[in-house]
Amino acid sequence: MPTPHIAAGPDDFAPAVLMPGDPKRAERIAQMLMPDAHLVTDVRGMLGFTGTVEVDGTSHPLSVMGSGMGQPSATIYATELFREYGVQRIIRVGTCGGIAEGVQVGDVIIGTGAHTDSMMNQHRVPGINFSATASFELAAAAWAARDQVSEGTVLAGPIVSKDHFYWTVPGMIDGLRAHGTLGVEMEAAALYGVANEFGRQALAVLTVSDHLIDGSKDMSAQERETRFQGALALAVAAATS
Ligand code: HPA
Repeated sequence: MPTPHIAAGPDDFAPAVLMPGDPKRAERIAQMLMPDAHLVTDVRGMLGFTGTVEVDGTSHPLSVMGSGMGQPSATIYATELFREYGVQRIIRVGTCGGIAEGVQVGDVIIGTGAHTDSMMNQHRVPGINFSATASFELAAAAWAARDQVSEGTVLAGPIVSKDHFYWTVPGMIDGLRAHGTLGVEMEAAALYGVANEFGRQALAVLTVSDHLIDGSKDMSAQERETRFQGALALAVAAATS
């Protein structure tokens, strides 16, 4: 303490951390939710904030920190937060590409499990294809709060965490869709693995920003910035449950 990638004091993080990929989004979320939000770390520009959020008249300590993009980056921050800073739950708030036919841009996905083409969980348990699953408690809390989402439909189910953003094995997306996969992003499987490793809780709540089959309604960069209110409401509900 501090760790190689986090320069915060021992008590600077709340037990619950919201984790968007983009550190600037972490700053906006912190300012939006917490009047007393203050910066606790900025190593490599990966901003982390702590403050208190009020939910139904009760104050809850909360931190918000970026993960960067991809499973290796998210794993570094999740490991240090769980192992060194006593964090109990991390809720990723991000975007994903829609895969399933019924999923529309603007919908919110609660990722109950995450398939992956990454090696990050491959060697955790010898001889085992590790199942990267979210915390049931956090997923149930997010699901219970779904009435708070005014735009889009809230769905809960499997997602996939890919290593490549721009490249996919031919047939992979079709196969994932045929197996009920709702969306694609790049961090959840590793995050769930780290939470399992440390006996803590993790969840990903994702706004669908584009669709891999029907690209006609993809969000602009600006919309990706602003249209995450629904996912954020569910993430806060899970964080403070
Ligand atoms: N692929 C991976 N990550 C994503 C995507 C995607 O299409 N959309 C938003 N995050």
